[in-house]
Amino acid sequence: MALRTRRDVWKLAKWDDTLLWYAKAIREMQTRLIAEPTSWRYQAAIHDYVDGEDPLADPSDKLPSQAEQDRFWAQCQHHSWFFLPWHRWFLLYFEQIVAATIVKLKGPKDWSLPYWNYSDSSNKDALSLPPAFHEEKMPDGSDNPLRVADRDRGNNGEKVGGPSDVNLKPCLQEPKFPADSKGGSPGFGGPRTKFNHSEGSVVGVLERTPHGNMHVRVGGFMGSFNTAGLDPIFWLHHANIDRLWAVWRHRNAAHVDPVDPQWLKMSFDFHDGTGAAVSRKVADVVDTAALGYQYEDISDPLVVAKAAVETRRTAVAQEAIPEMVGATEQTVHLTGRHTTAQVALTAPTGPARRKAVAEAAAPQRVFLNIENVTGTGSPNGYSVYINVPENEDPRKHEDLCAGTLPMFGVKEASRASKKHAGDGLHYSLEVTEIVERLQAQNAWDPAKLRVTFVPDDEPERKRTVASADEQRFHVGRISLYYS
Ligand code: C2O
Repeated sequence: MALRTRRDVWKLAKWDDTLLWYAKAIREMQTRLIAEPTSWRYQAAIHDYVDGEDPLADPSDKLPSQAEQDRFWAQCQHHSWFFLPWHRWFLLYFEQIVAATIVKLKGPKDWSLPYWNYSDSSNKDALSLPPAFHEEKMPDGSDNPLRVADRDRGNNGEKVGGPSDVNLKPCLQEPKFPADSKGGSPGFGGPRTKFNHSEGSVVGVLERTPHGNMHVRVGGFMGSFNTAGLDPIFWLHHANIDRLWAVWRHRNAAHVDPVDPQWLKMSFDFHDGTGAAVSRKVADVVDTAALGYQYEDISDPLVVAKAAVETRRTAVAQEAIPEMVGATEQTVHLTGRHTTAQVALTAPTGPARRKAVAEAAAPQRVFLNIENVTGTGSPNGYSVYINVPENEDPRKHEDLCAGTLPMFGVKEASRASKKHAGDGLHYSLEVTEIVERLQAQNAWDPAKLRVTFVPDDEPERKRTVASADEQRFHVGRISLYYS
C-alpha cells in the first residue's frame, strides 16, 4: 500500500489542490445534518459539545440520541497520556471522511491532511495563517469555507503569536513520554490517567507548548474544546502536533512510547470514512505507516542544539522521585497586570538529597509547579518568570522566563461536574537551566524564590479598560520540586 504524505501547508501554492479540495469538502460536510457522523458539526462535537453553547445551534437541529452522544461526543483526551493517541485517531478518521467526500465530488483520490509548521524558523511567515485560511473568497469567487470569522488573530494575515508560543525545545528535549509522579516532569505526552475528557490534571509538555499556545493565539473557536473543531485550521494544527510526536521519537533513540498495558489497551470509539462505527486501541495507533500515512518532514529542528544538558537529562530521567522544597500557602490571583508571589524554600532532605549524596553532585532537574489553576474567563496566556530583580521589567529578562501558561482547557477543567471536582489544571515548568545559571552567578537564593506572572496582550477587540483589574485565573499553589 502506498503511503499518503501529509504535507507542509506553507510549502503548497496558495490554492493548491490540497487546499482547494479541503475547502470544497468542508462546504459539502457543512450541508450534512448535525446527527450525521460525517457532517462538519458532528466531527467538531466528537471533540466536545456543550448543549446551550453551540454557536451554530439552530432551532431545527435534531441531535443524536443521548446514548449516541455519550459514546461518541465530547471525547477529546486532554491532560492525559491519551492526548496524543486519541487525537491521532480523531485526525485519521476525519481525514478519511474528507477524502471520501472529495472522491464523491469527483476530486483527486489521494487527498491527505496538510500540517501547519508554525515553528519553522526558515519561513518568515510560519506564524501567520496560510492565505487560503483567511482570504474571503475562493478562486472561483465563492465564499471561502476555510476562513472563519470567529478568530482573535490571523484573519488579516498577521502573525498570531511569537517565538515563545512555538518553542520546541522543552517538548522535544523531554526524555520521557509519561509524566513523573506529581511535581516532576509533566512528560512529553502527559500524565497516566484514565479516560480524561476535561478533568484537571498535569498538562504534558507538548500539549502545553506549542499546542495550547496556538489554540489561544488563534482564539475564537480555537479557544474552547467545544468549538475548536469548527475552525478548519484546527485540523492542520493537530496534524502538526501529531507530526511532532513522530519527530520526538525519531530524533533520539531513547525517546520511546509507553509500554504499559493500561495505555496500549485503552480503546476509543469513532466513525470511519464511510460513517461506520469503529472501536480502536492505542496499540494500533503508534505507527503512522501502519495507518497508511507519513509526514513530509520529521527531521530534527533542534539539530544544532543537542546540548549536554539533554544527554544528562536522558541519563537521569528514569528513576526520578520528585521532592518538594517549597510552596506558597495562599491562593494567588492572576489579573491583567503583573503579579508576583514569594515561595519560601528549604534544602531537600528526602529523595533528592539522598540522590545528591549517592551520586555526588548528581544532576537534578528542577520544576516550578503552578497548581490548581482555575478560572472561567476566556483563555489568554501568562509568561512566568523567576527571580526578576525587584522593580525591573520581566520582559527585559527573557533568560529568566520559565515558560508560558496558555490556559487552554482551564475553563473546562474548572467546571465541577458529576465526573470531576473542577479543581483546574496543573502546569509543571522545567527551570533546571535557569537555576543552574543563577547558581553559577551566585544569584540563586536557596531560601526564597520570586515568581512573576506577566499577562500576554489580549486581542485589541476584547480589551476594555476595566478588564486589567479583573481576577481572571487563580493559582491554588506554587511549588518548587527537585527531581
Ligand atoms: Cu483536543 Cu488541540 O485539542
